[in-house]
Amino acid sequence: VISGEWSRGLFVIKPEDEDIHTANERRLKELIGAPAGKLHTGRSRNDQVVTDMRLWLRDAISTLTDNALQLMSTMVERAAAEIDVLFPGYTHMQRAQPIRWSHWILSHAVALSRDVDRLLEIKKRVNVLPLGSGAIAGTPFDIDRELLRKELEFDSISLNSMDATGQRDFVAEFLFWASLCLTHLSKMAEDLMLYSTKEFSFISLSDAYRWCAGFMMTLKGLPSSYNKDLQEDKEAMFDCYDTVHAVLQVTTGVMSTLKINQSVMEAALSSDMLATDLAYYLVRKGVPFREAHGISGKAVFAAESKNIALNQLTVGDLSAVSPLFGSDVSSVWDYRSSVEQYSAPGGTAKCSVAAQNIRQCLISTDPQQRPVMLVP
Ligand SMILES: *[C@@H]1O[C@H](CO)[C@@H](O)[C@H](O)[C@H]1NC(C)=O
Repeated sequence: VISGEWSRGLFVIKPEDEDIHTANERRLKELIGAPAGKLHTGRSRNDQVVTDMRLWLRDAISTLTDNALQLMSTMVERAAAEIDVLFPGYTHMQRAQPIRWSHWILSHAVALSRDVDRLLEIKKRVNVLPLGSGAIAGTPFDIDRELLRKELEFDSISLNSMDATGQRDFVAEFLFWASLCLTHLSKMAEDLMLYSTKEFSFISLSDAYRWCAGFMMTLKGLPSSYNKDLQEDKEAMFDCYDTVHAVLQVTTGVMSTLKINQSVMEAALSSDMLATDLAYYLVRKGVPFREAHGISGKAVFAAESKNIALNQLTVGDLSAVSPLFGSDVSSVWDYRSSVEQYSAPGGTAKCSVAAQNIRQCLISTDPQQRPVMLVP
């Protein structure tokens, strides 16, 4: 009856009800009289409160797992559809090497897959039943904790009543998780913001998400501190959940609606980004990499002295730097074949990026199931 009143929104909360437990007991007493007082037998507010938190967080974790998997599959779809798009990969905000746009997308999806993995790991420690621990010492009555565990669908029961009522490790773990996940999303948002500026113009964000994305970028770390006393743990837990829940959904929206400008992205590639490829050319002719790197540096210097692009050096110019440069050096100046040489697992070659994709698609949207890592 009482459960029905709650679900139909008919339950009337009275000012003297201290919490959900006393409210239920008061209502039961109205319905059946004095025996309602037996409801609290073998229970304490201490073990009830922590049981409630664990029940709540368990559901919250399932929802967040779904949100994260949804975002990941959106990203994987994009990566598959736009696998042929190349653009500059940056280190220290400098153009470094040509990469696939999909490789960038999946670099963030991989971080999210670790977040999902961690979340499911935490869930195991959240889903432990403290009920039956009493206030601190345990319960003196013949309470079947194993039955409670089964009925409330917990994985196991807590081992020590003092520990069960007095610790909030699981909340701290969740808060840490949220902070790390938000850091990943913030890192991605920062790239997106940059790529969408007029200077880059690689992508344009959908109008619907432009402001949300700006807001996301300002999110770093925890929205709430958690070094307060145990009474304050709920606020931090609820806050964190609300934030990550919203941000994951917004990011999914951003990633599914943004538009890329392939011609601008590929026009941003320049031959100076192929200096390493020039070194690889020599490595393939037997030169130790360290030495090849030095020679390639000299070629870059030669181009700069002549005030021309690296790929405008003639075979003659290059062979003045090293006699190993031959006419076949022209094959180095191709961005697509540059990208294709990174075919070792985890690289930006088409087959390597596709391999990341295929593994990614194996991830089940069933939150009970552990996801498959993208990269071995
Ligand atoms: C890409 O950017 C160029 C240069 O700003 C512009 O002319 C072109 O219309 C854009 N293409 C798309 C598909 O937005």
